[in-house]
Amino acid sequence: VVDIKSGPSEGLDFLGQTLVVKGWVRTLRVQSSVTFVEINDGSCLSNMQCVMDSDVEGYDQVETGMITTGASIWVQGVVVKSQGSKQKVELKLTKIVLVGKSDPSFPIQKKRASREYLRTKAHLRPRTNTFGAVARVRNALAYATHKFFQENGFVWVSSPIITASDCEGAGEQFCVTTLIPNSQETADSPVDAIPLVNNRLIDWSQDFFGKPAFLTVSGQLNGEAYATALTDVYTFGPTFRAENSNTSRHLAEFWMIEPELAFADLNDNMACATAYLQYVVRYVLDNCKEDMDFFNTWIDKGIIDRLSDIADKDFAQITYTEAIDLLLGANKKFEFPVKWGCDLQSEHERYITEEAFAGCPVVIRDYPKDIKAFYMRQNEDGKTVAAMDVLVPRIGELIGGSQREERLEILEARLDDLRLNKDAYWWYLDLRRYGSVPHSGFGLGFERLVQFATGMDNIRDVIPFPRTPGSAEF
Ligand code: 4AD
Ligand code: MG
Repeated sequence: VVDIKSGPSEGLDFLGQTLVVKGWVRTLRVQSSVTFVEINDGSCLSNMQCVMDSDVEGYDQVETGMITTGASIWVQGVVVKSQGSKQKVELKLTKIVLVGKSDPSFPIQKKRASREYLRTKAHLRPRTNTFGAVARVRNALAYATHKFFQENGFVWVSSPIITASDCEGAGEQFCVTTLIPNSQETADSPVDAIPLVNNRLIDWSQDFFGKPAFLTVSGQLNGEAYATALTDVYTFGPTFRAENSNTSRHLAEFWMIEPELAFADLNDNMACATAYLQYVVRYVLDNCKEDMDFFNTWIDKGIIDRLSDIADKDFAQITYTEAIDLLLGANKKFEFPVKWGCDLQSEHERYITEEAFAGCPVVIRDYPKDIKAFYMRQNEDGKTVAAMDVLVPRIGELIGGSQREERLEILEARLDDLRLNKDAYWWYLDLRRYGSVPHSGFGLGFERLVQFATGMDNIRDVIPFPRTPGSAEF
């Protein structure tokens, strides 16, 4: 698939060439002397405009109304200069072939459908401009992520999805359970078995082959095992949170990028997070021009300039204590009251990055230990840990990370304090027994990054098939 119109000549280089284009019909306009059909194959935002006379091979399918919006077709034609103002070139057809017709009930007609409506058609929404552009930018961000880490000597590690560990220690995990095989579905099935879709039974007494297991909330602990062997690693995969939040920035299933660096402290970690974020933002600005222009015009005016600024300028850095002072001094009433020790809510995060720092990303460090996870390294003051969050405008928290507690006794004491089961973390503690080393890492929510880069409001619209409380259709 070649996008002939994206080069500097906008397709003029191809004048006179014969091309075959395969794709889906976006619009069809039959006029008295010519017929226009716009076709899109997802390679780029703009459609290929095709013009044809009634003597084109296959024209009878247009005449009989077989070729309509949504149909898949292939066409052959010659690249000519376009009369219209929307594009430099168009295709003058010699042949049109219907591949798969589209039922008149096709639910995505030309008129602009609301995002809410399109969520109910998640299987067809990639055929729209917005969702096509989101898919391409998401892909570019994933590619740029691998490119950044690979170019900097990190090794990509696959962390498990099914796990017995709770990385965040917050209990927001989905359990894994087993379906009873069809052959065993008898009248004496366990009493706690309940019918499920596909006429299978769910057996609550059988979890992961007799052992408790969950869907991972984070690959970090596994990442640490590999960082303390390979030095710099990263994971990039799906993670799951059983938190019942219905917001525009939470999903039950989201992708996370988690670098982990050995021989690295919190400052190294902050430097890595900043360099990574600036790299991927710059990458989409340079490589997704047509889609980014689309977002700039239709979704979030000015996003290109704001992202360019972010890619070039240093991020602000403050401590949690300074952030609290800022919020207390703000001439603003927050829904959630602020005092030292409180968790920052999204309204606080947005105030800091959008108002106090005028749209600049802000790295906040040294949070109270009581609101952060057990593995974060304790600071000398005994009250705070070497944590960092990166906040960005509109989204709030995009990255959460820390220097890890590498001192065995202190980590064990922390697990005891929090009444977490030390035995369950035996292998994690081993990493502190055998060649422990200062190390740090962070997690970036990939969908929040896609929101940040595209200006899309709702996290449900930047992942192909969103999983939110109660919704796993498609
Ligand atoms: O702050 P979190 O919970 O940190 C961790 O999981 C660490 N183990 C990461 C690490 O240090 N390796 O999550 C990290 C990021 C958040 O900053 C946010 O961007 C995203 O993951 N995130 C979510 N994204 C979408 N939906 C949710 N429910 C999310 N929860 C966290
Ligand atoms: Mg966090």
